[in-house]
Amino acid sequence: MNLKQLLFFISLYDKNTYAHVCRVAYYSNLIGKKLLLTTYEMNLLLYSSLLHDIGKILIPTSLLYKKEKLTKSEFQFIKSHVNLGISILPDTMAEIKNIIAYHHERLDGTGYPYHLEKEQIPKLSKIIAIADSYDAMTSNRFYNDIKTKDEAIQELLSNTSYYGKNKYCYAYVKTFCKCIKK
Ligand SMILES: [Fe+2]
Repeated sequence: MNLKQLLFFISLYDKNTYAHVCRVAYYSNLIGKKLLLTTYEMNLLLYSSLLHDIGKILIPTSLLYKKEKLTKSEFQFIKSHVNLGISILPDTMAEIKNIIAYHHERLDGTGYPYHLEKEQIPKLSKIIAIADSYDAMTSNRFYNDIKTKDEAIQELLSNTSYYGKNKYCYAYVKTFCKCIKK
């Protein structure tokens, strides 16, 4: 299956997830361009950001959009979308899978599923993590309050080493701020 077919599957399964991955790809692209990534890296970033949540097509939408508080096991099931995504994609997409596998990791080791830290996390996964979190905060995901652009940027910044919380790469968040504030 190729990228177009996989994206078609996502759009058929859930329009919100489809719209989300498109926005994450757009934001990731902005950051990548500003960081002067190579053409190869930019393509890898595009594919990985578009497919980062493909595992969600194996999670019932009733659970993805459940308004009530999730139970521990439901939360674990949603988190499993990372590994489910890896299992869906073909081995020919090994590099993409390697980026997707770490899009919920955080620099301080509080992410999942592997609790990797800092340089253990691939650069492109760190970029997608910022774009993903920004979109989660600024778009209607049913279960949280929507933040304004400035509030979301402030939230990202407050979770960098500059403010003592090392979740997102400070340099990448600063780069993203410059792109998004225009
Ligand atoms: Fe995700």
